[in-house]
Amino acid sequence: TTLYVPRDAAALSVDADAVAVRIAQEAAARGIDVRIVRNGSRGLFWLEPLVEVATSAGRVAYGPVATRDVASLFDAGFLSGGSHALALGVTDDIAYLKSQDRLTYARIGVIDPLDADDYAAHGGWTGLANAAALAPADIVAAVTESGLRGRGGAAFPAGIKWKTCADAVSEQKYIVCNADEGDSGTYADRLTLEGDPFCLIEGMAIAALAVGATEGYVYIRSEYPHAFRTFSQAIDIATQAGWLGDDVAGSGRAFRLHARLGAGAYICGEETSLLESLEGRRGQVRVKPPLPAIEGLFGKPTVINNVVTLASVPIVLARGAAYYRDYGVGRSRGTLPLQLAGNVKYAGLVEKAFGLTLRELLYDYGGGSASGRPIRAVQIGGPLGAYLPASKFDTVIDYEAFAAAGGMLGHGGVVAFDDTVDMAAQARFALEFCAVESCGKCTPCRIGATRGVEVIDRIRAGVDRARNETLLRDLADTMIHGSLCALGGMAPFPVLSALDHFAEDFGARQ
Ligand code: NAI
Ligand code: SF4
Repeated sequence: TTLYVPRDAAALSVDADAVAVRIAQEAAARGIDVRIVRNGSRGLFWLEPLVEVATSAGRVAYGPVATRDVASLFDAGFLSGGSHALALGVTDDIAYLKSQDRLTYARIGVIDPLDADDYAAHGGWTGLANAAALAPADIVAAVTESGLRGRGGAAFPAGIKWKTCADAVSEQKYIVCNADEGDSGTYADRLTLEGDPFCLIEGMAIAALAVGATEGYVYIRSEYPHAFRTFSQAIDIATQAGWLGDDVAGSGRAFRLHARLGAGAYICGEETSLLESLEGRRGQVRVKPPLPAIEGLFGKPTVINNVVTLASVPIVLARGAAYYRDYGVGRSRGTLPLQLAGNVKYAGLVEKAFGLTLRELLYDYGGGSASGRPIRAVQIGGPLGAYLPASKFDTVIDYEAFAAAGGMLGHGGVVAFDDTVDMAAQARFALEFCAVESCGKCTPCRIGATRGVEVIDRIRAGVDRARNETLLRDLADTMIHGSLCALGGMAPFPVLSALDHFAEDFGARQ
């Protein structure tokens, strides 16, 4: 019998390793032969460790399984899908999962992340094989036609970025993957690195063939040691199998891939700081232009994309641009892996075509707040995203609709707060975060964030409310228009949204 016990960091944090050991011991004690596959996480975190058993009816799930449950699971005959208090039925039929559009995340939690054959058996390597038979310009055209936009947050069309790099003339070009996933409440990059690393490798190899790059780097945040380990192993396996190396997928072209670990700076998720860091220098923002696509890593043309963007490329090349483009609404094509976090009952990954509403996400998937109190505010797009009040919960998940509502989708992180939240404290946190993480290159951010914290403290202390609010809004304006990068340029958004939608938390207006 084959069993699946996730090896993903989220599952490990709730004792998945001990559960796997306990299952092996119990099976041995009962003289039962089992094969335990350590898969990635399906992304339904409240059910972790989610143990699955392969049965004639398909894979059936039990969760959350603790070591003390193991003996009773055997007693209940779980190896043939027997009923038990923790039984969840056929995994693919769990409503949270079944209603999703898992394209980029089709394989997470399904396969053994380090088994290249398992990856192939689930549709892997097809996109790369197709790309290897295409002219580079046709690969770029497919990505452009798919409508795929940058999933790191800025939503810039991936095909246009690739074309800029492809058109640049240079002996040496690079593909860089931004896996410095620093946004609060986000974990989509991590799930891919740990649960389906070959998918990212395949996407990067396709990008390399498209623009003529021979070297690639994946910059992984230091807080992701499991991801770094798994991904580094995946590179070795893919290289040995000929999907990377001197002759990528029989194309006659070379692409070598390297994993690099960051050192804990949020700003290294900004693309030019990331490149500085990769080059061995302190992570400080570079002035743009030149764009990285023209002068990037070591001054050479570089495609730098987020994990999710690159991991969405294989399916475009495997199934065709139209297949991907047919999902979504307006100019937001395909799917977005939304990451539910904070005060929700069911936190997890929800990959859906653009077009559902924030309310559907929070209540149909999230199940409302974990505390049972009303959800009062939601921050989307990381620590630099605006706080949206309940009156905006009908906003459609779509880049343009979110911008029109005064928010942003960013990398898809959704953090919910109930009515006990102090929004003035949250506003303060945004600027404090900016002050701590500022790279120090430009004045509005370096000094503005620190002064902003002081102004909020005065408002919270009830000192001259009207004058200090004017000062804070003025400062926000300066930071938005005068900062060199998104950290200083966007940190005022959570502050302004808190002031606009939750004024009562800042004390009575004078
Ligand atoms: P941006 O709008 O300046 O650039 C977006 C991308 O398009 C960059 O890669 C840029 O080099 C490229 N680009 C722009 N014009 C181009 C052209 N003509 N040809 C080729 N490439 C072109 O945005 P930026 O500053 O890179 O990112 C800001 C976003 O980052 C924010 O919206 C935020 O959502 C997101 N963010 C994400 C975080 C995460 O953890 N994923 C953390 C913090 C912010
Ligand atoms: Fe550095 Fe802040 Fe200026 Fe960005 S806005 S370049 S983080 S000082």
